[in-house]
Amino acid sequence: MQLLKVYYAYFSPGNTTEKVLSRIASSFENYPVESINLTSYDERQQEHHFKENELLIIGVPAYGGRVPVPVVDALSRFSGLNTPVVLVATYGNRDIDDTLMELKKNVTDKGFIPVGAASFVCQHTFLKECAEGRPDEEDLKMAKEFGDKLKERLRLLVTYDTSNLEVPGSFPYTKPPMGEFPFKVETNDYCIYCMLCADVCPVKAISDSNPKDIDNSKCLRCGSCLRICPTQAKSFTEEPFKALQQKLAPLCGIRKENWYTIV
Ligand SMILES: Cc1cc2nc3c(=O)[nH]c(=O)nc-3n(C[C@H](O)[C@H](O)[C@H](O)COP(=O)(O)O)c2cc1C
Ligand code: SF4
Ligand code: SF4
Repeated sequence: MQLLKVYYAYFSPGNTTEKVLSRIASSFENYPVESINLTSYDERQQEHHFKENELLIIGVPAYGGRVPVPVVDALSRFSGLNTPVVLVATYGNRDIDDTLMELKKNVTDKGFIPVGAASFVCQHTFLKECAEGRPDEEDLKMAKEFGDKLKERLRLLVTYDTSNLEVPGSFPYTKPPMGEFPFKVETNDYCIYCMLCADVCPVKAISDSNPKDIDNSKCLRCGSCLRICPTQAKSFTEEPFKALQQKLAPLCGIRKENWYTIV
């Protein structure tokens, strides 16, 4: 099948998913390549329609073993016309659980045909010692290898419509959608009202007139506001967050492997 254009779409508050996706997409450097940043609230409101001779590579981090809720909403505005799609889940060394299964279910009834899937281990948002520094050079080499093999396979395929790609996970999903969190984002008196946190929040949970006013029902606990704050004024509620970190700590010791499959 002759491809005319390649898109890669990612939700990536911590930028690790974006790194993996852009490395996979780099295999298609001979084609026009366009990125779609689904971390951006405004970008997620856009409609995206893809054709048969285009390829969509889509990547999300596992959030509680599921696709982050804002991405599920954004995908309702995506459509394909027998468009090949590659599904990628990143995760922080615990598990992707049903993330790829949910991603697959959310695209197959909208005119997309899954032709490849992968999971990549990336540093955990909540505990840097968990998969610290990943994706590293070895991971990115594998992402490129995946992209190269995809490109070759798609070139040889005459049609995509008979493929039924197997991905890990189960349906009905074993994990409930992410709900209540035992911790929230706090703001201390070091705040200088620069508003960078409100600008970076992927779900507009921080009021753009008062950075201490946070809508916890919208907040994903993605950590972007903590990372961008120049005065370390933002933090997660200390005790419950520490308890979660202690729960995650035993997962830090093992180097989990990346995985991919192609039709
Ligand atoms: C709210 C939330 C839930 C998460 N749930 C999981 C999970 O279920 N399993 C896992 O291994 N990692 C989990 N992680 C870690 C992320 O999947 C991982 O750090 C990912 O690389 C973050 O992607 P990003 O850097 O593109 O934002 C979670 C992170 C957050 C913020
Ligand atoms: S980024 Fe930090 S200093 Fe700036 S408004 Fe937000 S909390 Fe305040
Ligand atoms: S308020 Fe919540 S969703 Fe917004 S950037 Fe901070 S942690 Fe992420």
